[in-house]
Amino acid sequence: MNDFETLKQEVLVCEKCPLSQTRNNVVFGNGNPNAEIMLIAEGPGYYEDKSGIVFQGKSGELLDKILTASGFSRDEHIFISNIVKCRPPDNRQPNDTEKAACLPYLYQQIELVNPKIIILLGATALKELIDPNARITQIRGQWIDWKDRLVMPTYHPSALLRNPTLKRPVWEDFKNVVAKYRELVNPEHYSAHC
Ligand code: URA
Repeated sequence: MNDFETLKQEVLVCEKCPLSQTRNNVVFGNGNPNAEIMLIAEGPGYYEDKSGIVFQGKSGELLDKILTASGFSRDEHIFISNIVKCRPPDNRQPNDTEKAACLPYLYQQIELVNPKIIILLGATALKELIDPNARITQIRGQWIDWKDRLVMPTYHPSALLRNPTLKRPVWEDFKNVVAKYRELVNPEHYSAHC
C-alpha cells in the first residue's frame, strides 16, 4: 500500500475519470492524517475546486461551527475527505463511473488514517460505503459497525443550510460522537457544549 504522501501525489495528478478534465484543483482531503475521526462527504463544490481544500464556503462555515462546538479542530482531531476528489460540473451528484474510479483512493485513505470513528455526511457517502438502499433519514444517528470501525451517518451540512430544522438531529449525532470519542480515545476530551 502507498504511504499517505505517495497516495496524495498520485491523486493530485489523477486522470481516471472525466472530472479531471473540468477540475481546477483536486481536493484530496484535509486535516490530521493520524486523526481518530474521519469525515466523509460527497465531493468538492465551487469553492473547494477553486482552493483545493475541503469544505470551504457556507457549508464549510457551518461544519466548522459544529466541530468547534464538539471540541474538535480540523487540524488535530479529524481528517475530512469526499467520495470523489474532483468537482462534478454544476454541483451535480457524481455518477457511477466517477464514484467507481475514485473510491479506491478513499479506501486507501481510510486504511492509512485508520480512524476509530467515521462520520458520513449525507446520503451519497452513506449509500456508497454502507448500502445503496440505505436512507439517510432512517439511518442517521445510529452507529454502524463497519470493517472494525464505528460509523455514524448524519445529514450533510448543505442539507442543514436548506432545512435548518435538521440542525438539531445533527447536533444530537455529534453529541453521540463526542461521547464515543471520550469512551474510545480520550476521556478528558473537552467540549464547551456537551
Ligand atoms: N460538500 C462536500 O460534499 N464536500 C466538500 O468538500 C464540500 C462541500
